[in-house]
Amino acid sequence: MVQRRAVVTGASSGIGAATVRLLRLRGWDVVGVARRTERLEVLAKETGASVFTADLTDQTQVDGLRDFLQKDGPIHALVNNAGGAFGLDSVEESDPDDWSRMFDVNVVAVKRVTTALLPLLRDGARESGNADIVMLTSIAGHVPYEGGGGYNASKFATHAMTGVLRLELSGEPIRVIEIAPGMVKTDEFTLKRLGGDQERADAVYAGVDNPLTAEDIADVIVLSVELAGHVNLDLVTVKPVAQAAPETATVAAEVVPSHESTATAPAGDSGPIPRRDDAGNFYSPLVRSIAEAEGVSLAELQSIEGTGSEGRVSKADILLFVESRPAGLCTW
Ligand SMILES: NC(=O)c1ccc[n+]([C@@H]2O[C@H](COP(=O)([O-])OP(=O)(O)OC[C@H]3O[C@@H](n4cnc5c(N)ncnc54)[C@H](OP(=O)(O)O)[C@@H]3O)[C@@H](O)[C@H]2O)c1
Repeated sequence: MVQRRAVVTGASSGIGAATVRLLRLRGWDVVGVARRTERLEVLAKETGASVFTADLTDQTQVDGLRDFLQKDGPIHALVNNAGGAFGLDSVEESDPDDWSRMFDVNVVAVKRVTTALLPLLRDGARESGNADIVMLTSIAGHVPYEGGGGYNASKFATHAMTGVLRLELSGEPIRVIEIAPGMVKTDEFTLKRLGGDQERADAVYAGVDNPLTAEDIADVIVLSVELAGHVNLDLVTVKPVAQAAPETATVAAEVVPSHESTATAPAGDSGPIPRRDDAGNFYSPLVRSIAEAEGVSLAELQSIEGTGSEGRVSKADILLFVESRPAGLCTW
């Protein structure tokens, strides 16, 4: 039987590190790649994986990775996991440099690595019957949200690239698998997005029942590459049970409730508008803070017919409701 070898990018933390661990437990040879050598070395010692330090936004370093891998022959799976989000500002206010960083790592680096390693994946497919490219996108690659800006745009782009690649590789025994997680509680993702503010990062997961863990996503990644070679998981959306709607997932997972309203509720109301009402409807932090600022109660919010994505209530819906409210109506 062929000894299978996988390359996992973004292996120094979170989902990437968990995937390296599980693949090693399942008997794969693994090469973990990231920029932080010390963290990779600890993982190598723990798991027996090989590691390679590289900034994947730099073509010379990607070429170095290919040369390093080539010495040991084919690879059978590439997990394009390295990525990140920077900032939460609106499209209007956000820093274009943050957008460039997100496109560099979430889109262009994935293209660089895929181009560099495809010959080795083809060798792997010849040897064992098939090979796999796994793309870690996000629910943010499918549903836009306020403050998502460059992260949404970059993950939509990775999703598009995944579809193109699958079409272009059609006829070759190489599966192209997209895994789009919702809320995953990893140590660094949100922290980095918020420039290291641990308190705000913790607040994202507060009150959410059992968010996904890095290990949950690793389970799905490893399952996807271990299924029979003719079975392709084109797109797997993975959310914790606590997240019913895509919008919920993106808002809860990747938008920090920086808009979490501290506004006092209108007198007579039962308090600030909750994240979720009794009927299970989700209200994003932004929607809640706008409603509260406009003196719109939970009962009124529930009566508004949403025109936003998935029929959800948007800022425009709330403002329209307030404008059309009969004059003199007491909101409390
Ligand atoms: N956590 C979530 O809620 C969530 C949800 C949906 C999708 N995702 C996606 O899942 C993937 C992993 O997320 P995570 O939560 O595990 O995040 P994470 O812990 O921040 O891991 C990101 C990894 O990418 C590596 N990396 C970043 N820039 C790099 C570069 N230029 N070159 C090489 N490696 C680089 C980082 O290592 P170094 O800093 O050492 O280079 C790190 O190992 C990302 O693509 C993310 O967008 C996450």
